[in-house]
Amino acid sequence: MQAARQRRLYIQEVSVRDGFQIEPRFIPTEQKIDLVNRLARTGLAKIEVTSFTSPKAIPALADAEAVMRGIDRVPGVEYAALVPNVRGCERALETGVDEINLVMSASASHNMANLRMTREQSLAQFAQIVGLVGSRAYISASLSTTFGCPFDGDIPAATVLDFVARLIDLGIDRVSLCDTTGIANPAQVKQICAEAKRRWPQTTFTAHFHNTRGMGLANALAALDTGIDRFDASLGGLGGCPFAPGASGNVCTEDLVHMFATMGYDTGVNLEALLAVARDMPNIVGHEVPGQVMKAGPSSRRYPVPDWVGAKEGQQRLA
Ligand code: COA
Ligand code: ZN
Repeated sequence: MQAARQRRLYIQEVSVRDGFQIEPRFIPTEQKIDLVNRLARTGLAKIEVTSFTSPKAIPALADAEAVMRGIDRVPGVEYAALVPNVRGCERALETGVDEINLVMSASASHNMANLRMTREQSLAQFAQIVGLVGSRAYISASLSTTFGCPFDGDIPAATVLDFVARLIDLGIDRVSLCDTTGIANPAQVKQICAEAKRRWPQTTFTAHFHNTRGMGLANALAALDTGIDRFDASLGGLGGCPFAPGASGNVCTEDLVHMFATMGYDTGVNLEALLAVARDMPNIVGHEVPGQVMKAGPSSRRYPVPDWVGAKEGQQRLA
């Protein structure tokens, strides 16, 4: 375990996409740009900046072009955007994204509810997109409802792995295993992630968990145990798919970074800098957010010893 602790982990911020897509209040474009720019200077490996989806489906991210074009491009940070179809890919490429993050679901009903396509239609779009993108950007694919679907329930691991195989066969070498509505448990995460890592050692896997049932950090540790070193997370713990009933926030970025840092892992992220940005999140969205470390402070936080305790200790030392 000691050697494993030295592993470098990569934190991929999704609050501006997964977080803001479900916020009831439109976050002004300038605020999105400012947030991305501040996040980019905290040591995060990747930021999912927006999504190139239908503005009717996701009005909160209707300013995708303006945000992508308005941000600074900090060296060393990858800037990604979620893309559901060829039209979205064309829009994303025009703005010079580093990574196109394709999205489909492992379950039939969520794919239809979210994307109005069958899973086969999504894969057909992806095949076209791979040809279109060429070497202009990296391509990743996010497989939603990997660990269960709010409509269809359990998805057999064989079905999930079959879709992972289909994505990899298309030439996609980055795959995110996504727990869209916080259904996953650590034992299941271990099983599916370990099998994916075993079958496709050359593929870069990301773990994408939501904390809907309080299992987010436990699931992240279970994924880590299988060798996964990339984690999506959302500042303040925002997030959720508007087309998945009961969806709520992602694993909180600063809580995840804090956990890994206290365990001795190198995430590359400056926790203090990240917390400073996180503390602005309630102002940006206009409500409280679930993040815990921003409220409690890091575990290294100390309080002054109450006077009476100090006095009592002094008496005991004299006695
Ligand atoms: N960007 C912008 N507009 C798009 C688009 C895209 N990527 N894809 C389609 N559109 C437009 C079409 O031009 C058309 O516009 P019109 O009504 O003005 O003619 C309209 O959207 C409908 O197009 P259609 O191809 O029939 O799409 P649809 O209604 O079947 O919706 C998606 C399919 C994928 C575009 C839509 O469901 C979507 O954007 N979903 C995203 C869901 C999401 O992001 N969920 C959260 C992340 S998990
Ligand atoms: Zn998500």
